[in-house]
Amino acid sequence: MQLTSEQNMSEERSYLSTLNAIANGERRGFQFLDAWSRKTRDPQLATLLRQVAIREAEHAATFEKRISELGREMIETADDGFEDTMAIATSDLPDNEKFEHLGVGLGVDDEDDGDHLLQLLSDKTIDPTTGALLGRFIAEERDSDRILHAAYQHACGHRPLSNREQTQSATLEHLSTQLEQLTTAVAELQARQIPPKK
Ligand SMILES: [Fe+2]
Repeated sequence: MQLTSEQNMSEERSYLSTLNAIANGERRGFQFLDAWSRKTRDPQLATLLRQVAIREAEHAATFEKRISELGREMIETADDGFEDTMAIATSDLPDNEKFEHLGVGLGVDDEDDGDHLLQLLSDKTIDPTTGALLGRFIAEERDSDRILHAAYQHACGHRPLSNREQTQSATLEHLSTQLEQLTTAVAELQARQIPPKK
């Protein structure tokens, strides 16, 4: 089969390993959040964990698809700590302790993580399709952090959760605002990549 021009260009793409790492990380994220959502006895917490788990699965599939469109295959990577992660997620530990042991929803690293995610977009070799995909991914990951933080506070008994409709409505509102901001950021980054006219 003849390679498309996009596939030929993939030789030069330096960010494929990043896409591969994201796809693997999101797949594992789905696995432990999904397992935890089935283990917890708190139906509200189960709903939120499931919501984030589904998003993780969708991210994994989307990035795997993009890697394929770029003419490569996703390579499964090993994570030595993942067995422990699954053991905690499926254990009988109280839910608030699971958040603490797994280091999710604690809300302390959000800013650093945001900076790290935005650095992905500063790669000047990124094509527009992948850039748009990363923009959406970043916005949804931030929103997932907020959902998990609310879920952690709920598990600690600090504050009640809003009902599902309110959560989803707030989610959509945040996503819409963040997508607008990220679309602008991506457009600016891409504009900088256009070589000057000779
Ligand atoms: Fe994620």
